[in-house]
Amino acid sequence: MPSKPLVVGNWKMNHDYVEALHLTQQIGVVLKNKSREHVEIAVAPPSVDLRSVSSIIESERIPISLAAQHVSMFDNGAHTGEISVAMLKRLGVKSVIVGHSERRSMYGQTDDIVASTAQTAARGGLEVLLCCGENLDARDAGEHFSFVSNQIALALDGFEKKNLELLTIAYEPIWAIGTGRTANSEQVAEMMAHIRLELNSRGMSDTRVLYGGSVTGENAAELLTSGQAGGFLVGGASLKVESFMAIVEAVDDCYAKNR
Ligand code: PGA
Repeated sequence: MPSKPLVVGNWKMNHDYVEALHLTQQIGVVLKNKSREHVEIAVAPPSVDLRSVSSIIESERIPISLAAQHVSMFDNGAHTGEISVAMLKRLGVKSVIVGHSERRSMYGQTDDIVASTAQTAARGGLEVLLCCGENLDARDAGEHFSFVSNQIALALDGFEKKNLELLTIAYEPIWAIGTGRTANSEQVAEMMAHIRLELNSRGMSDTRVLYGGSVTGENAAELLTSGQAGGFLVGGASLKVESFMAIVEAVDDCYAKNR
């Protein structure tokens, strides 16, 4: 297992560059007052904020990394509206979210596109936060394990072996995203175990597996200990410094205690 849990704040389409700067500075102040050495922290602002956030992270030496919410599956060229891996790398972006359920359901991101995007990102040296997770129908039909296995298989098909170390998996059941209905720790624990088995069979026993879906400062510790999550991909609660840092704090305390 990787040594530390990872907490990623996915700001989605929230915060313009001024608000993004403010939130990043606030995170910096909290971390200056109390460093959180048992947890890795990343934020994924909207693309137009990346440059400002990158500058402030660097100039104020804030111990967090920068993630992008999206990247093109193409390297460059005539792709209006898209952003390339090279452009993100130039801004100091370390990782990118790929296959988020919102992009799959609202922007036509098929399993093929998810796989190509993951490959392009990793080939260019970006870490890939690969999202998977079942919808409510699959959960109710008891098909959640096969649903997730299938998503992982399709995403990793053709993924170059030498880049596997750049992968992190984020399990995000769709019914738990933005709904306030978190998966309970047993549901998370059994899916974590299932995904780890899948990964082990591909020689990926060190790959980190995160949980995402209505994570808060109140449920984070339980999801980490009983749920066995390797960290979190956080949406709503990452938009304010208090709620985001409450999760970071819970994870840090938990990891420090249980190590
Ligand atoms: P949520 O979003 O924390 O608001 O449920 C999680 C995500 O979409 O990554």
